[in-house]
Amino acid sequence: MRHLYIKTFGCQMNEYDSERMAELLARSHGMELVETPEEADLLILNTCSIREKAEDKVYTQLGFWRPLKERDPQPLIAVGGCVASQEGERLRRRAPFVDIVFGPQTLHRLPDLLDARLAERQPQLDLSFPELEKFDRLPERPGRQGATAFVTVQEGCDKFCTFCVVPHTRGREYSRPLPEIVREVRQLLDQGVAEITLLGQNVNAYRAPSGLIGDADFADLLRRLALLPGLQRLRYTTSHPNNLGERLIAAHRDLPVLAPHLHLPVQSGSDRILRRMHRKHSIAEYLEKVAALREARPEIRFSSDFIVGFPGETDADFQATMDLIDQVRFDQSFSFKYSPRPNTPALKLKDSVPEPVKEERLAILQTRINQLAQDYSRALVGSTQNVLVTGPSRRDPNEWTGKTGCNRSVNFAGPKGLAGQMLAVEITEALPNSLRGRLTAMRAAS
Ligand code: 5AD
Ligand code: SF4
Repeated sequence: MRHLYIKTFGCQMNEYDSERMAELLARSHGMELVETPEEADLLILNTCSIREKAEDKVYTQLGFWRPLKERDPQPLIAVGGCVASQEGERLRRRAPFVDIVFGPQTLHRLPDLLDARLAERQPQLDLSFPELEKFDRLPERPGRQGATAFVTVQEGCDKFCTFCVVPHTRGREYSRPLPEIVREVRQLLDQGVAEITLLGQNVNAYRAPSGLIGDADFADLLRRLALLPGLQRLRYTTSHPNNLGERLIAAHRDLPVLAPHLHLPVQSGSDRILRRMHRKHSIAEYLEKVAALREARPEIRFSSDFIVGFPGETDADFQATMDLIDQVRFDQSFSFKYSPRPNTPALKLKDSVPEPVKEERLAILQTRINQLAQDYSRALVGSTQNVLVTGPSRRDPNEWTGKTGCNRSVNFAGPKGLAGQMLAVEITEALPNSLRGRLTAMRAAS
């Protein structure tokens, strides 16, 4: 077992998990990542089950990999993540050539599962939810390259929105111990990482497991990380409006290291639909939080996830979503047509909105969001932004690419050796997917 290929579907938390799997197998079995499935001795499919056709996508991908099993020696195939968790035994029945099935909470057991598969010559399945054990058993992170990194601090969800499969696949909410997170972030900073994104299904529901640090909450975690030397920018995603209280709003006021951008999913602009979704807050409450954050940090921008065509959504409900979008002036966001998911309470509601109506609503919503995002990009022209340099530009290696606080890519010319630095860049042009700029100072603007 030397060569590892990982394909990742879905969210940033899965990207983080895939990165950790590679680190784990490098340490346990000396495995190296390869670029194509054909080169691999072990193929891992890290799956996501959040939306429609997730299972079909997994079986289609496995169908592409199946012929590789005719090679000698046979490569092994492992399936992890949320579809594995949801499908379990069924996955083994439908794709009996799969060697290892593991859930999002058992990726740390991969080396043992691999050894057991090799020794016993039997498929292995581990879909338990041992929660914190996963993080205890992940290796340190030497050799990490790049200016930005993800760190998962919280997993799982207790909110049970009626449309969502996550509480069923990732399990209950739990948080990693604070000292362990500090240690991981410090290691990443020592290796030149400058921007950290904290991840969690409900990241701001973070609550340090009681013990050494007492009952630190998410705002405490941010304050603690903000003290670490070398940290240039701190982000977090995905947050839930119900876990956004005064202490977190105060952290946005007090910590300049926090990016002036917040992904705060609202899903719908209609109170009636929010109730049916079991979101447990009203639009008025959401707007109060947006206003308080704007007061704390005037330049803050918001993005959201939206679902259109939730069961029972009328034209008036959809219009309420469009009105909310104009009121908040959301930045680039994610939007989806509602799709029924296994084991979710919304399955009992009739999926009443016809497909063409869902499509039309989605198109209207996305057009408006794109316009607002483009308006904001144009408004940035002439301003000076703090840009974190992520690396050489992909189009022109003589140029640099960096990210603004509001997560826009900026390309600009500059001398060698800028990666990982936060620099003042004047925005000169807004293109549809990026900005162009001119380096004005070899340091941050403020
Ligand atoms: N249908 C459509 N979108 C969904 N999401 C979650 N479940 C569904 C579903 N059944 C979207 C929500 C969530 C994002 C991660 O995925 O907007 O915030
Ligand atoms: Fe799913 Fe709702 Fe939990 Fe988000 S808060 S993961 S949408 S159940």
